[in-house]
Amino acid sequence: MSSLQPAVVPLPRKPLRSPDLTRPDWTASSSRNPKLLWLDKNENLDPELASVATEVIKSAIPCALNLYPDAEPLYRKLAAWMGVEPGNLMLTPGSDGAIRVVFETFINEGDVVIHTQPTFAMYPVYSQIYGVNRIAISYERKDNAPSLSVDRLTQAISKHKPRLVCLPSPDSPTGTVFSPVEMRKIISVAAAHGAIILVDEAYHPFYAQTTVPLIAEFPNLIVARTFAKAWGLAGLRIGCAVASKEVARSLHKVRPMYEVNTLAVVAMERMLDHADEMLASVRRLNAGKWYFLDEMVKLGFPVLRGEGNFLHVAFGPNAAVIHQALADKVLYRADFREPCLAGYSRFSATTKTLFQPIIDAISRVTVAKQT
Ligand SMILES: Cc1ncc(COP(=O)(O)O)c(C=O)c1O
Repeated sequence: MSSLQPAVVPLPRKPLRSPDLTRPDWTASSSRNPKLLWLDKNENLDPELASVATEVIKSAIPCALNLYPDAEPLYRKLAAWMGVEPGNLMLTPGSDGAIRVVFETFINEGDVVIHTQPTFAMYPVYSQIYGVNRIAISYERKDNAPSLSVDRLTQAISKHKPRLVCLPSPDSPTGTVFSPVEMRKIISVAAAHGAIILVDEAYHPFYAQTTVPLIAEFPNLIVARTFAKAWGLAGLRIGCAVASKEVARSLHKVRPMYEVNTLAVVAMERMLDHADEMLASVRRLNAGKWYFLDEMVKLGFPVLRGEGNFLHVAFGPNAAVIHQALADKVLYRADFREPCLAGYSRFSATTKTLFQPIIDAISRVTVAKQT
């Protein structure tokens, strides 16, 4: 017995030992005040869509809880809805799951990965988890708005010859997009340099443009989609990756026993029968967003009319008093550290009706300050 070594704490893989890779404390509470309107995480809290989804989930529960998933009907129906074939798809836990699967399938330690900055938080995190050589292309601030030219991005691809380019469209938190012509150029330049490009369409169809049809032409293109935003199913954790059949086959190699849970499979399959209600919800939320933005402009505040299910307003010298006035009403992101968005507050889109009390509160304190 005495020759046994004392137990030591095992070290994780080398990239995970970096002190820069820290994750939120899972033992700390992150619960939100139920008395407030939650416009802080770009969820879809549209009450009308929520009642449709609730009925669908209720109907799915009896055939979902005690069974392992059979995802084939969902693959078939989802492929038809997206205009692709089941062989082009991989279901994933949210679009976050699609991003992870792409890294797991294609990335070796030390590979070059390009992503925009700021962007969805998990791009830097997966880059660290997989030990990549990460190149962050920062948005500049131009005319008081985040700006990234197609030339800067394509030049970075030509220069660094990355293994992977990650590009949300629209990007988050900036809400920015490239035009369809520019997207094709970025994908072509990536192809010419042997790079995979992951186009993250989490906010489809708040922004209706899509690169999905381009998968037939570009085997280096992978598109990530989610049912968390427009479909209002963030809690189910379901999304998908869309790619050429060859690439989809590679993605499926890292599939766990079951790629998504049975409730998500059954509920999503049934939700696809309610695509019209989803589109009506998107129209309601976009209308709420434009209404809120127009009201903010009337009050004299600069705004960003981005393409996601969120918007930005710069309250300027009124910021402190407005944040105070909204504190008992709504959760939102008050400010950003990144220079391209500094001074802007971000609100998730909601309906005109739910935005109205927020507009009223902002108007009251703004008018009071001016008089
Ligand atoms: C650009 C982008 N991609 C992916 C995600 C993650 O979405 P999901 O909940 O489907 O994992 C988000 C979430 O906000 C996002 O903004």
